[in-house]
Amino acid sequence: MSENLNCSKLIDGKALSAEIRQSLKSRSEVFEKSFGRKVGLAVILVGEDPASKIYVGNKIKACEEVGLKSFAYYLPEGASKKEIIELIETLNSDSCVDGILVQLPLPNKSDESEILSHVLPSKDVDGFHAVNAGNLLLGNENLTACTPSGIIELIKSTGISIEGKHAVVLGRSNIVGKPIAMLLLQNDATVTVCHSKTRNISDITKQADILVVAIGKKEFVTGDMIKKGAVVIDVGMNRVDGKLYGDVNFEQASKHASYITPVPGGVGPMTITMLMSNTLKAAMGGGK
Ligand code: GUN
Repeated sequence: MSENLNCSKLIDGKALSAEIRQSLKSRSEVFEKSFGRKVGLAVILVGEDPASKIYVGNKIKACEEVGLKSFAYYLPEGASKKEIIELIETLNSDSCVDGILVQLPLPNKSDESEILSHVLPSKDVDGFHAVNAGNLLLGNENLTACTPSGIIELIKSTGISIEGKHAVVLGRSNIVGKPIAMLLLQNDATVTVCHSKTRNISDITKQADILVVAIGKKEFVTGDMIKKGAVVIDVGMNRVDGKLYGDVNFEQASKHASYITPVPGGVGPMTITMLMSNTLKAAMGGGK
């Protein structure tokens, strides 16, 4: 945690990730000694989306760092739904593969839900399968979506308790908005979810003790939308002319927040660290 000039403290996702990855590395070494093989993660990338290529590359690098074996599958843009599902079925029955990840978005977005439903829930290290999403809703021990799990770790790292706080989530995606709302609720926050049809958003954000922003709009949240002393988590990854911007105007938000995540270096590294953690959990039978 470092103090920045404007008085809010930076939540350093890179440093927290490095700490957690160190402990995951030790656990993966124990697994390898016990089972005579490395924990395995299969990553499927369909098409040429430049951002997805970077994310997949970072996931494969993280596997090396924590001692996991990665199996990368690069399919062409035109790969059919049937081909992708057949690959998933093969990986489902491969005992060296503990986790399976299909990088989103797929070129054909309308196929996503059906394709993801073929990943064995016990290998669904993204937590996107309906069984795992349902278990999260019911509060059962689970393979939980990586970005939301990482956000909870980032908030807890501040030492600020989530219990009883008003947490406001901007965005209702299946990947971030909905699951983080469930996790905050499980941690005894009072949760409000805002989305593109919400009226007078800033009236609501100004009430947030914890503000999680995942709407994919460059610097949408400005300083005047933030309550003094709020914890602000910026999930945005908006690439404009090769530069990465968050969903929060960092400069302005820093003047109001008590703690804030930077972009890059906040949520991003934690998402990948939680993926490594889920893969180890799946290998140990925790995803069943
Ligand atoms: N695309 C953006 N975020 C994610 C993620 O967490 N997992 C996958 N599979 N695709 C993504």
